[in-house]
Amino acid sequence: MASEEARTKSTGGCRFPTISTVFLSLCMICFLPPASGFFLRSCRISKTNAICKGNNLKTIPQDIPPTATNLDLSKNLIENIQASNVTNLPILSSLNLFHNNISQIESDAFAGLISLQCLDLNHNKLIHLGDGVFNGLRNLTELRLNTNGIKVVSPTAFQSLTRLKYLDISHNKLETIASLRLMLQHMPQLHELVVKGNSLKSFHSWELTNRSLSLATLDLSRNPLNDFRIAADIFPNLTCLTIGDPLSKAPMIWDVRDKTFLKQVSSLDISGLNMALADTDALLQAVNSSLKSLSMNSMKLNLRELVNISCSIPTMSKLELQSNNLKFISSDFLKLCINITELHLEKNFVNKIQKDAFASLQRLRTLSLSHNRLSSVPNGTKNLQSLSKLDLSYNRIKTVGCQDFSNLTKLVELNLQNNSISALKDCLFNNLVRLQALALQFNQIKHLKGAFKTHLPKLQIMHLNGNKLTALLPGEFGGLESLLNLSLHGNEIAKLFNESFVGLTNLLKLDLTSNQITRQGLDTGAFNALTNLLRLDLSINHIKYEDSMALRETPFGKLSSLEELLIPSQHYRLKSHLPVNFLQGLTNLLRFSARNIQVIYLDKDTFKYTPRLEKLDISSNDLGTLSAELFSPLQTLKSLYISRTQIRSLDFLIDANLTKLEFLQARLNQYSVITEHVMNSLPFLQYVDFENNSFSCDCDNAWFLNWTINSKQTQVANAYNFLCNYPDDFKDKKLLDFAITSCSQDNGFICFVSTTSMILFVMVASFSYHFMRWQLYSAYYLFLSWLFDTKQKNKQAPCQYDAFISYNYHDEPWVIGELLPKLEGEQGWRLCLHHRDFEPGKPIIDNITDAIYSSRKTICVISRRYLESEWCSREVQTASLVSAFSPSRLHSFRLFDEQEDVLILVFLEDIPTYLLSPYHRMRKLLKKQTYLSWPRAADQPEVFWEKLRKALQTGNDPFLISTIRWLSDHINACTVVLSIMLF
Ligand SMILES: *[C@@H]1O[C@H](CO)[C@@H](O)[C@H](O)[C@H]1NC(C)=O
Ligand SMILES: *[C@@H]1O[C@H](CO)[C@@H](O)[C@H](O)[C@H]1NC(C)=O
Repeated sequence: MASEEARTKSTGGCRFPTISTVFLSLCMICFLPPASGFFLRSCRISKTNAICKGNNLKTIPQDIPPTATNLDLSKNLIENIQASNVTNLPILSSLNLFHNNISQIESDAFAGLISLQCLDLNHNKLIHLGDGVFNGLRNLTELRLNTNGIKVVSPTAFQSLTRLKYLDISHNKLETIASLRLMLQHMPQLHELVVKGNSLKSFHSWELTNRSLSLATLDLSRNPLNDFRIAADIFPNLTCLTIGDPLSKAPMIWDVRDKTFLKQVSSLDISGLNMALADTDALLQAVNSSLKSLSMNSMKLNLRELVNISCSIPTMSKLELQSNNLKFISSDFLKLCINITELHLEKNFVNKIQKDAFASLQRLRTLSLSHNRLSSVPNGTKNLQSLSKLDLSYNRIKTVGCQDFSNLTKLVELNLQNNSISALKDCLFNNLVRLQALALQFNQIKHLKGAFKTHLPKLQIMHLNGNKLTALLPGEFGGLESLLNLSLHGNEIAKLFNESFVGLTNLLKLDLTSNQITRQGLDTGAFNALTNLLRLDLSINHIKYEDSMALRETPFGKLSSLEELLIPSQHYRLKSHLPVNFLQGLTNLLRFSARNIQVIYLDKDTFKYTPRLEKLDISSNDLGTLSAELFSPLQTLKSLYISRTQIRSLDFLIDANLTKLEFLQARLNQYSVITEHVMNSLPFLQYVDFENNSFSCDCDNAWFLNWTINSKQTQVANAYNFLCNYPDDFKDKKLLDFAITSCSQDNGFICFVSTTSMILFVMVASFSYHFMRWQLYSAYYLFLSWLFDTKQKNKQAPCQYDAFISYNYHDEPWVIGELLPKLEGEQGWRLCLHHRDFEPGKPIIDNITDAIYSSRKTICVISRRYLESEWCSREVQTASLVSAFSPSRLHSFRLFDEQEDVLILVFLEDIPTYLLSPYHRMRKLLKKQTYLSWPRAADQPEVFWEKLRKALQTGNDPFLISTIRWLSDHINACTVVLSIMLF
């Protein structure tokens, strides 16, 4: 059925005049207009982005549309790029070749990419950047060559990159500054250069350039530099400098001739720098009027001194001291850092901090002690009254006390995640009246103990996920009147109460994924307090209904603001149901996911409560069929996910009227044919995913294949990977390899044959009409006669009359005056005369036929008038048919001589042959038969009557009659017509 539609409903123009619908529908497939869509073999398109990521590609696809602005070819197997490989992408602005095997790029390979701005070649195997590799990239501003093996750079490699602003060539094998020089000389606008992780052994400004550069950021870290010399003011704009190598063995020599050469540097990272104290001091002095941020991570030597030196720089506000193995922070370590506002002490194995370690840091706003070994909130942090951000995450804090944060009244962010806190206290956050974000995720918290009942009036974001909560007691969040976002996923929450969420009137997002909430939890009406909630995630809980009957109290009845509800499950064997009014109250719901909730049925009214739904995911449920009614309330639906639903047909979409649908994901189902009907019912579809269905690779899918390739509006995701399931000899071959041309060729052939036959038929018909009109008339009458004959054959009563006299009424005087007395009176024949013997009231044609069939012979009295009379000639036709089938007629043509013919022609007047020509049959008969002529018998009338008597005497013997019957029984209409045409 569906396949029939696919075959006949194809679009296209069979552009000849409508002859018959049969012809048209056959032809439609043959003339498909050529079109170029945006179906891509290995990529997908999202807006103007072509995404070909991670497809094991060895070549650059040639079907990227020229309208693409971004091309992502990352994580493929491309090895080598030639000039012919990337062409016709005139407006491409970003090309991502990250993580391929590229070892060679031909010169001019990218020359066609005149608009390219960003090129990512990170993580490839380039060793040599040859002449002109980047030719043509005049608009390139960003080039990433990170993590290759680049050792050699040709002088002209970078010559086109005059607009480059950012160059990352870190983690390569550059050994000399000279190779940097070859790059930088072409890039007057370069703003940021990252040369980290190469093999540079020395840095001499005169080897790099002899003019000043525009660089603002330079990263030279992780090079085995042993010599750093700047002899000229080549970095007048440098603000960020990173230098130092944690792996270096020998100290580096620092020689900056003029202390003003680095006078702009405000951010300095000397992590891992191995240098004599005097040199480091010189370095810090060089930046002492501008430095704001200093990182000294993984330092080997002199940390204490360096802290003291740097903290004396009055402009310094941010100090980063990570991974220095500090362990213990004493009260004098930071005592000079009075201007510091941001201090990072991560990854230092700190387990002890002296009470007044931060006492002198009166301006401290941000303190991070993350990733240390603290077992409690250190005394050192308890009195930092100006602190606004405190990060104690990733420590070993087990318990928290009422005094821990009570003085931190200016705290805005507190991070306690990934510790071992097992219980909170109601006084814990007493004074944190400004706190906006609280991270408590991944602890061992079992009880909230009223910590949020009355405090934290400004808290907006709270993470409690990954703890051990089992119940949310009534009023537990009562104080969090400003809370917007609450994460509770990954707990063991099973118990909810009617008042669990009371107080969270401003909450917008609630995540309860991966808990143990059951249907009973929902029945408490706990969610009704969340009147402003926008997003509720209940994925992976234990919600299970026994039937789909309407609930008396619906769980989300008051959530009229909710826009997104997620209830996917993770269990595989349970069978569940969705109550028909489960979604009642969610009048503004836009997105709903019920993935894998083990329902096998959805009531048609399920979505009637959610008329604004835009995205619906009901995939991974064994629904088997879907009905159009289920979707009919969803007139605004834009995205539909029905993968893995076991459905066998998409026909429900035809009547579902989803005219706004833009996205359809229907993978892993069971349809074999996608019809035009279905696709045409989705006029705004932009993206469709039919992967892993059991496609049948025959002409039933010809329309779909053609549409896939040519659709300009809808992208068929991953179409090239669709596999055939039927017929058997195509199994596991690719659907798109199926040659639909064979379908159109077949149809083309049918078209050809039918069109040709039609034309021939018309030609033959018009020729025949023109040249054989009279034969055709005869054929027509003969055919009619044959029909009468077969009609009559059953009522062949024994002949009533010896002869039927056929004449024109003008000749009646002769018939009455001469013929009748002679034949009936003298010779004693019984004659049938129409004026005398025809049954009144019977149709004239029946009378004629009956008369002829009940007479042994028919005598035609022929005159000019007789020939002109229409029904007379019909008499001749009928009678001559009987004669035509007489066996003697078939055996020999001696009809009249042997007097076996039924037809006896009597000419009353001489009629010249030319006058007979319109009466074709008559002429034919006259050629074959002898006839009697009255005018010629004028001399011897007796001979005339005697001849007539003899003609009437010859009877049709019984054998002949039965043969005639047998013949008329077995001769079909066609042979009649044919024999008559030949006749
Ligand atoms: C580049 O084009 C050549 C010649 O057309 C082809 O052999 C090669 O595979 C292409 N390489 C890539 C990476 O597309
Ligand atoms: C190159 O960039 C300039 C300035 O951003 C722009 O005006 C020009 O159109 C770009 N050229 C091309 C070919 O895109």
